Amino acid sequence: MAGVSQSSRGGFSNKIGFVLAAAGSAVGLGNIWKFPFEVADGGGGAFVAMYLAFCFLLCFPVMMAEIAIGRKTNKNAVGAFESNGHKKWSIVGKMGVLSGALILSFYNVVAGWAFGFAIEMISGNFGIGQNFTQFISDWHINLAFSSIFMFLTIYIVMKGVSGGIEKASKILMPSLLFLILALMGYALTQDGAMEGVAFYLVPDFSEITFEVAFSAMGQAFFSLSLGMGALITYGSYVGKKDNIAHSTAMILLTDVGIAFIAGLMMFAFIYSQGLQGTSGGAGLIFTVLPSAFESLGPVLGRVIGAAFFILLSFAALTSTVSLLEVPVAYVVDEHEVRRSRAVWLVGGAIFLLGVPSMLGNGTVEFFNEFLTYSSGKTVNFMDFIENLASDTFLPLGGLLISIYTGWVWRGDNFKKELEQGNPEFGNSFLGKYTVFALKYLVPIILGAITIVTISDKFLGID
Ligand code: PFF
Repeated sequence: MAGVSQSSRGGFSNKIGFVLAAAGSAVGLGNIWKFPFEVADGGGGAFVAMYLAFCFLLCFPVMMAEIAIGRKTNKNAVGAFESNGHKKWSIVGKMGVLSGALILSFYNVVAGWAFGFAIEMISGNFGIGQNFTQFISDWHINLAFSSIFMFLTIYIVMKGVSGGIEKASKILMPSLLFLILALMGYALTQDGAMEGVAFYLVPDFSEITFEVAFSAMGQAFFSLSLGMGALITYGSYVGKKDNIAHSTAMILLTDVGIAFIAGLMMFAFIYSQGLQGTSGGAGLIFTVLPSAFESLGPVLGRVIGAAFFILLSFAALTSTVSLLEVPVAYVVDEHEVRRSRAVWLVGGAIFLLGVPSMLGNGTVEFFNEFLTYSSGKTVNFMDFIENLASDTFLPLGGLLISIYTGWVWRGDNFKKELEQGNPEFGNSFLGKYTVFALKYLVPIILGAITIVTISDKFLGID
């Protein structure tokens, strides 16, 4: 846990410490790697509009609920429900532990790609973008990079030295933001960029389907690290006097803001380079960006390209740390396993779980074409895990956390928890909206989208 000693379960040294750690968890591959390709696959502006609506109208209340549950109970994702007097609801925390493990298993593989690309950029190999498919099917390289990445994550979580990465993130995260802004500025001056901007910003409402809404919803939860109790765990370290609504707004704006400008940069580059035909998917940033860096010239391109992928790897690391923290905190607190042992066991098991995701990118036929949905779409192992964990489990977790907070723990108690640091909360518009959203809006909307899409896409029920 960033900046806090695990054993004492002390608080964050200050409010900024918590916001930084939570924003560090939120900002990662989800914003820069996943968001642009989801937008491309989801038809552009309509996806962006839905994503923004989900973040501000639905995820904002859910995020406050997670943080409030954590602060109230001072526990991990599973223990929180138990110690709040609702043992049965700890199943939601257990689902979160499973989601964390599944997500980290493939996230670590993609983080390995980012790491590998940093090295390719340092050596000036801009052609790697065209050879992306080959790159990801080379399991030797991927095994090496993803092992290094998991090792770093394990080391940080084990030593509880996240204080160090928290300090580093104060410099590195703004650097990443600055770099993306500069690249966005450059991209927007290129010929054809405005067509990309139009695709990105002008919604074509005929593109809105339940399936697109389902991915936009999954993307919102994934990007905000929501629905699996990561923020329950982090919330347990927030001081009683802190204003949760205010911190939540800062985390949300940082995360959505970075995704938004990363998207703008990407679509300006895609269209100005005439790459709009390139199939989207997981390879989008890895195929498009190297040639964009090359256009900056051999020296500048190398420097900027390497800096970009190094900073992206760092952003991924602050996210993998929080992904590993959820199952580790559970095992340590609830099963009384020593922390160092728990970290190695859990981290090692998740690494192994990620091997099929690594091999399903062209190495082993069985994992390449792992499953065919009733819609006719065939997915590899990594896509399957992503559909299951981030598109399905996270929103489902968010839905259950909403129902729990609004109906079981109850809106009034939730408000009381927030009022400790913000006496006006209960009577404010935000307070009233939040409780309304947790009780009605989130369960109904998330429930409807999930049921329709799952029955249609995965089960073939019309
Ligand atoms: N929010 C992270 C990203 O966008 O890259 C991914 C993530 C981290 C999801 C932690 C869930 C989580 F608990």
